[in-house]
Amino acid sequence: MTLTDAGYRQRRQHLVARLHTTGHLTSPTVAGAFASVPRHPFAPAVYDVNSHGQVGDVLHATRPEHQDAYLAAVYGDEAIVTQISTDGRPTSSSTQPGVMAVMLEALDLHPGMTVLEIGTGTGYNAALLAHLLGDHAVTSIDIDPHLVATAATALDHAGYRPTVVTADGLAGYPQRAPYDRLIATCSVRRVPAAWLRHTTPGGLLLANLSYGVVPLRIDNNGAGHGRFLPQVAAFIEARPADGPVGPTVADMVSLCMGGTGTTSPGNPRDVALFTDPHGEFWWRLAEPSIYQCTLLPDGEEVHCLVDADTGSWARIHTQGPTVTVAQSGPRQIWHAVTTACRRWDSAGRPTHDHLGLTIDCDGTHTIWIDTPDGPHTWTLDDSR
Ligand SMILES: C[S@@+](CC[C@H](N)C(=O)[O-])C[C@H]1O[C@@H](n2cnc3c(N)ncnc32)[C@H](O)[C@@H]1O
Repeated sequence: MTLTDAGYRQRRQHLVARLHTTGHLTSPTVAGAFASVPRHPFAPAVYDVNSHGQVGDVLHATRPEHQDAYLAAVYGDEAIVTQISTDGRPTSSSTQPGVMAVMLEALDLHPGMTVLEIGTGTGYNAALLAHLLGDHAVTSIDIDPHLVATAATALDHAGYRPTVVTADGLAGYPQRAPYDRLIATCSVRRVPAAWLRHTTPGGLLLANLSYGVVPLRIDNNGAGHGRFLPQVAAFIEARPADGPVGPTVADMVSLCMGGTGTTSPGNPRDVALFTDPHGEFWWRLAEPSIYQCTLLPDGEEVHCLVDADTGSWARIHTQGPTVTVAQSGPRQIWHAVTTACRRWDSAGRPTHDHLGLTIDCDGTHTIWIDTPDGPHTWTLDDSR
């Protein structure tokens, strides 16, 4: 790379200015961390992803012909994909800086606190945490040993030495618990009980469900309560040690387009609820094992849905005013999704930032609107 240290510093300053402008950054302390910690050492090669989410070539920091595109990606306010699996799924990335800033501010960090990060990835967020709290206060874990080794090296070169360990974050990390703060940078279908147990009473746990971020304050009984942040973000889903979590788009298309299933007429109103972004937030929260992709052949609209737990699928075909539903497998998943959407509709179609979550000590997840003791509450999973 030909860019000088001053050149990199300037890139960081531009990023900070941009995050101020977009309103993602308001805390001077967090701004100081973004201004100090370089992002490029943590992502020396990034995948070029187009506006449709298609992953293209790798951009290398060391190739002069890549430099402009590489620097624009690394010092822009963008998530950068840093690893993909052999079947083409992103398996690691550096989160969009704007989202990182919002999450770091929501963590409400103060000197003397300890933090567990689940999802080390590149190590960039761990570096920001170490900058804010000191190396000794930060534990960061990732399920992928290669990522952990690479991140530890990058952290060391950048002058940060938090504890970085290979471990399955779905089990938390009891070895250094309890933590004043826990931040997950991979999403979960349900918040593991271990995360609540490993967070100090009065502490904060930041989790990603559906495409929302929810800070949960842990009470003296070990339960967690909080409201979803206005910021939305889709994270890489936490995977178990033994493999991927959900189907690829190719899997979904082949299952739904290749099978006949049982066909019935559908309701256009259900499709409208299902495709509304706030309706989608809700059904993904209610039915996190159901994955979806949309095809648009010749002005028609086809939604492919697959339940990762049972292999059940549904194909929703809309042509003009006519909706046809084909389903197969042990679960009627279109029925499950539309039940969730209709609940959202009958509650007055709340936007995600009006939703809150309480997790009881027994792991029950209850969604509420605006206030935990308001008229609308739902226990997730109770209809399954
Ligand atoms: C969005 S990336 C994390 C970004 C990271 N914080 C950074 O600053 O680069 C999500 C990470 O979660 C990790 N991950 C997925 N499943 C996990 C699990 N069960 N336990 C721990 N980490 C996991 C992935 O390997 C991936 O690196």
